[in-house]
Amino acid sequence: MYADRVLSGMRPTGSLHLGHYHGVLKNWVRLQHEYECLFFVADWHALTTQYDNPRGIEEATWQMVIDWLAAGVDPSKATLFIQSQVIEHAELHLLLSMMTPLGWLERVPTYKDQQEKLTEKDLSTYGFLGYPLLQSADILIYRANQVPVGEDQVPHIEFAREIARRFNHLYGKEPGYEEKAEAAVKKLGAKKAKLYQELRTRYQQGGDEAALESARALLGETQNLSLGDKERLYGFLEGGGKMILTEPDALLTVASKMPGLDGQKMSKSYHNTISLREDPDQVGKKIRTMRTDPARGLRTDPGDPEKCPVWQFHLVYSGDEVRAWVQQGCRSAGIGCLECKQQVIDAVLQELAPIQERARSYTEEPDVVKNIIADGCEKARDLARETMRDVREAMGLNYG
Ligand code: TRP
Ligand code: SF4
Repeated sequence: MYADRVLSGMRPTGSLHLGHYHGVLKNWVRLQHEYECLFFVADWHALTTQYDNPRGIEEATWQMVIDWLAAGVDPSKATLFIQSQVIEHAELHLLLSMMTPLGWLERVPTYKDQQEKLTEKDLSTYGFLGYPLLQSADILIYRANQVPVGEDQVPHIEFAREIARRFNHLYGKEPGYEEKAEAAVKKLGAKKAKLYQELRTRYQQGGDEAALESARALLGETQNLSLGDKERLYGFLEGGGKMILTEPDALLTVASKMPGLDGQKMSKSYHNTISLREDPDQVGKKIRTMRTDPARGLRTDPGDPEKCPVWQFHLVYSGDEVRAWVQQGCRSAGIGCLECKQQVIDAVLQELAPIQERARSYTEEPDVVKNIIADGCEKARDLARETMRDVREAMGLNYG
C-alpha cells in the first residue's frame, strides 16, 4: 500500500567485526539499492545497560559509523543518523508510554533473559523495561514497514506492531471522522469515488480481500489527495479510523552465519572475533592459531572438516573447488592445516582490503563523517516531525 521504507538500528559497540559484516552490513548494503533505507545508531539504547558509564558511547558511535561506511553503506542511498540527535524519538516514546500496559513490556522475552544474563548490572530500571517501547518509537516515527533484524529481535517488532495497533485504535478516530472520510471520497472524483465505495462495500460486507487490495491499489495510484486524506481512506476501507502509525514487519534474511575463531558464533563477548579493521598480520596470526580437528595431531593424520572451525570459514569464503580440495585433502591427509588455513587467510584479507582502505580515508577525514551524519539527522528529523504532527493532532495536543 505504501512504498516500502526500511529502518534498522544498531547499538554503538565501537568497531565492528566480520560477524556484523556478514550478518547485518552486507544485508544493509543490498537493501539500500532496493528500498528507501534509514539506518541509525541506537545510542539511547546503549544507555539502558550502560547508564553507569555513558562516556564511551560517543566514540563508539563514530567508530561504528566509520565501519558502516567502510563496509559500503552509501550515504547517497541510505539515510544515516544518530537516535539521540532526533529528539522526536523521545517525545513519541513518552506519549506511547502513557498507553503501554506494563504487562506487555514485562512479557517481552528479552526482558527477563537479559536481566538474568547481565547479572553484574542492576537492570531493574525504568529505561531497561522500556527498551522495546523506545525501539517501537524508533520504528513507528518513520512509519517504516520493513525492519531488518535478527531472529532475537522479532519479539520487539511484534511488540511495535501491537503498539501501533493500539495507538490507531485509541486515537485513530478523529472527531467527525466519518464526515471527513466521506469528504475525502468525493475528492477522488466521481468515477474513482464510485469504484472506491463499491470495493469498500464488497470488502466490508463480504470480506472480499481482492476488493480490499484493488481499493488500496486505487488509492496508491491517486495523486491529488493530501497525505492525511489518503490515510483516512486507507483506514476507512477497513472500517477503522485513520491509520496514523504503520504496523511494521520484521525483514528476516537468511544472513550467512559467521562463525568465530573457535567455532561458536562470532561475538565480542566470546573473544573470538576478527575486526573489520584488524591488522592483516594479526588476521593471519589469529587464523593460523585456530583450533582444528584434534584428530589431526600429526600432518599425516587424516581429519574431518565437520569437526573443524576452519571448515566453517570455508563455507563462508570458499567456492566449490576449494571446498572439494579441503574435503578431499583433509580426509586423506593430503593437505596440511596450514595450507588449508592459508586459503581462508587470503580470502579474508581480500575481503577486508577495500573495507580497510575506505575506513582509513574516513578516519583521516572525521569532518566528512560528521557531515554525513548531520545530513542524515536532518532528513530523519523532517520525517519524524511529520509523524509527530499527526500524532499530536490525533491525541489533541496540537495547541495550534
Ligand atoms: N534492539 C536492536 C538491537 O539490539 C537495536 C535497535 C534499536 C533497533 N532500535 C531499533 C533495530 C529499531 C531495529 C529498529 O539490535
Ligand atoms: Fe581443519 Fe583444514 Fe586442518 Fe581439516 S585440513 S582439520 S579442515 S584446518
